[in-house]
Amino acid sequence: MSRIDSLIAAMSLAEKLGQMTMTTAGYAVTGPVTTTDLEAGIVKGAIGNVLNLYGAEMVRAAQRLAVEQTRLKIPLLVGMDVIHGHRTIFPIPLGEAALFDPAAWEASAREAAKEAAADGVHLTFAPMLDVARDPRWGRIAEGPGEDPMLGQAIARAKVKGFQASNLGGADTLAACAKHYCAYGAVTGGRDYAETDVSQRSLREIYLPPFEAAVAAGVATIMPAFTDLDGVPMSANSALLKDYLRGKLGFDGVLISDYNAIAELIRHGVAADLAEAAALALKAGIDMDMMANAYRDGLPEALDRGLVSMADIDASVARVLKLKEQLGLFDDPYRRGGPESADVLTARRALARDVAGRSMVLLKNDGVALPMAGGRVAVIGPLADAAGEMRGCWSAAGRAEDCVSVLAGLRAALPGQEIGYAAGVAIESDDESGIAAAGALADSADTVILCLGESAAMSGEASCRAHPGLPGKQNALVEAVLAGAKGKKIIAILFSGRPLIVPEVMAAGAVLAAWAPGSEAGNALADILLGKLSPSGKTPVSWPRAVGQIPIFYNQRPSGRPANPKDHYTSYYLDEDVTPQFPFGHGLSYGDFVYADLGVSPAQAGQSDSFTAKITLINHGLREARETVFLFAHDKVAKVSRPKLELKNFGQISLKPGESGVVTLTLAAKDLMFPGLDLEPLYEPGEVEILVGPSADPGRMLSATVRLV
Ligand code: GLC
Repeated sequence: MSRIDSLIAAMSLAEKLGQMTMTTAGYAVTGPVTTTDLEAGIVKGAIGNVLNLYGAEMVRAAQRLAVEQTRLKIPLLVGMDVIHGHRTIFPIPLGEAALFDPAAWEASAREAAKEAAADGVHLTFAPMLDVARDPRWGRIAEGPGEDPMLGQAIARAKVKGFQASNLGGADTLAACAKHYCAYGAVTGGRDYAETDVSQRSLREIYLPPFEAAVAAGVATIMPAFTDLDGVPMSANSALLKDYLRGKLGFDGVLISDYNAIAELIRHGVAADLAEAAALALKAGIDMDMMANAYRDGLPEALDRGLVSMADIDASVARVLKLKEQLGLFDDPYRRGGPESADVLTARRALARDVAGRSMVLLKNDGVALPMAGGRVAVIGPLADAAGEMRGCWSAAGRAEDCVSVLAGLRAALPGQEIGYAAGVAIESDDESGIAAAGALADSADTVILCLGESAAMSGEASCRAHPGLPGKQNALVEAVLAGAKGKKIIAILFSGRPLIVPEVMAAGAVLAAWAPGSEAGNALADILLGKLSPSGKTPVSWPRAVGQIPIFYNQRPSGRPANPKDHYTSYYLDEDVTPQFPFGHGLSYGDFVYADLGVSPAQAGQSDSFTAKITLINHGLREARETVFLFAHDKVAKVSRPKLELKNFGQISLKPGESGVVTLTLAAKDLMFPGLDLEPLYEPGEVEILVGPSADPGRMLSATVRLV
């Protein structure tokens, strides 16, 4: 008999339910506040898993209770939201997506795993893979942006980075693909609201990143809080048991979101905790995070015949198997211990590189960037706000370990006087500091405006109906721009979402810095001073107005595509239909010209691939890195297909005057789509291949190929 089978045979019901329970240690309560006597719960076997606990000694002490004082000595599993770094904070995931660089995504996850494992953590509730098309939703900050293929690439890279090749290693974390699924489609961009998603969108947009995570071997998956078409994900047997476990063969652990099982009662699909627990268990959820629904509800569910002991044993087996895979039975103390100074220094250097490459240069008129010296003024509420650089979900990252914009610039320009004025606070209505800030701006040659959101204004339960500059920042912008004649005005936007900031667009340069993490100020100095050319490309469309939301590049064409010159077409009377900046937009200090697109072969069968080659020439004055996108458009198909679908991307760095060829492949099978019956369909016919710097249709080269 295996270790797991013999343990299950020996376990009491209470001990089984303890292994199916995850309780917070209280470090960062991310849901309804409850108090728990953690130590007593562990010792009596009522708590087999803990979240929000970190620190090698803290975890070791809790682990000792489990492996020395409980009856069966089953080790504790410790989870934490290591979303974009543990103590060393990397850019928020939406910012990191802008790198379009799987190697970088994997590297930052690898470093985060090492750092968290050194603190005794076993599992991270990441990657968050919810495709989102609505910047009102605060959690757009945590995810891969608006494109499913990008989401798939991030899923693979992050699972590999967190889990490495051996889940039992001392520096690995079990990953958790979340929040399954279509959480990003919440109505009105309001967190936790209902989602109504077509079966087609489910298959084409929201499921693919999770399918990629399963294929990459993700150890755990977390269902979303939300209902999907009326069926709460925590009770969604069709998508959990039938699809994930049945069709995709996922045999890992399903962990509920925080209190989500108990919230099935509020969803109106369970009359009491026993029913809620039964629905979740029957759907395939193995671990109850913070609802105590399994511990307090399943005994009654058993008595009422709503579940069987076999259902419970199956979940316990998956939890114990995960602990075995993590090496916790072999050595419960394997993780946890100091890291060398060299490791920490290298990690900060990586954080600086990733932060610099996450920034998206939206606008750069008159070569406002890179800075050209002279008197510099740094103005705005985000200029000296080290803590805000962490963004949402900053785990164990401390404000004092982050480099602010002001600190980064002063470090990069030793001896140069750099004026500073906050002008306004991030969200207050106090305008009393604007005059002084305006005066400082008037005295400078270059003004760096640091604007945007606080870290708390995006992330969970942080949705905005007016996703623009909060507080009186627009008044500050107006005051600074009023005296702008002849000056270089550089606006830097810190945010967890694309901001709708028409007022800021009058600046010479606009740089989206997202929330760049611990090395924010140093990375910005690298960009502002020209040491590093911006190379980030926005993973989300930037709206001109809230009224355009949801806005995304891969829409279907409509029978009356927008044409303001033709009244009866799909346009607005009062706003342009195009985004302020399209998906994939991002300038650099180079000037890339695309030429000579060649795609071969001219036709291919389902098991073949196409190869696209395109020449880029850098006509700019500085070396720069460019991300090149390959889109497809299936012009005539059984169902209407999106005007553009991202199918691949690649990068090239070129010096001034240098040219190079980017080669991107496209497997014919990747042009399959859900047919009329929603089953994957390979349909012969012409397909347009479009290659360019973004989803801007005006900047692409195209070729037509044929599927046979
Ligand atoms: C939260 C979030 C989830 C997170 C969990 C644990 O409510 O929805 O993303 O992993 O609780 O903190």
